[in-house]
Amino acid sequence: MKYLCANWKMAMTQSGIDEFFSRFSFSKPDVQTILFPSYVHLSHVHHQIQAQPSQGSLQWGAQDCSTEKSGAFTGEISAAQIQDLGATWVMIGHSERRQRTAETAQTLSAKWDRATEAGLNVLFCVGESLEQRKAGQTLAVIESQIAVVGSRTSFLLAYEPVWSIGTGLVPCEKEIEEVHLFLKKRLGSQTLGILYGGSVKTDNANALAAINGVDGFLVGGASLTAASFQEVGSVFNLTYPDPSFNR
Ligand code: PGA
Repeated sequence: MKYLCANWKMAMTQSGIDEFFSRFSFSKPDVQTILFPSYVHLSHVHHQIQAQPSQGSLQWGAQDCSTEKSGAFTGEISAAQIQDLGATWVMIGHSERRQRTAETAQTLSAKWDRATEAGLNVLFCVGESLEQRKAGQTLAVIESQIAVVGSRTSFLLAYEPVWSIGTGLVPCEKEIEEVHLFLKKRLGSQTLGILYGGSVKTDNANALAAINGVDGFLVGGASLTAASFQEVGSVFNLTYPDPSFNR
């Protein structure tokens, strides 16, 4: 199974989502598509999916959840509330959350526990900064980030180099392969798949999908229109490994 995930971040409006669904027709039995709209659009996405029987296999989830189960936490959203809206996924550890809210391993672990208690599937994100890559610390950073995983199973993992997100900069194929094979070795039997994220676009998706160990994509900017998102997903129709791909 390959995974095509959309991270809509703080983009989209209800009419933008309507527009997306009016054009989105991507559906492949061997590709699971998962949409991550902002919290306020979870219900709207649910209704759109219900209104289109051809989109019945689409899944969706939230971009984060609270460390707390319930209670007096103004402005927070619990995993149980996300599940109550019909969503089945939650993203944990996206670098934009890690940076803005100074998430620690303990915080991430608590979020993951709440998600599991609520019956949500987790997409866990890891990735190094440019300084860390330049200092040759990439694998050490990833290793420390995956300590949160412990014995958990059946989750999706996304490798997203922080310096690649929204910048148009992408690591070379060997660099991506190195991290993915490292993650496969450490967590291959525990994950559902290891995704690459960071400036995945229509013009590089083909080459990225052919990299050894890449089981799918987490797509930001290129997921905001149905046309570019499904064009990115269409590369998963190809047969792997691509024999012409030169590593
Ligand atoms: P990008 O974002 O595709 O716009 O780089 C990816 C992400 O943040 O998940």
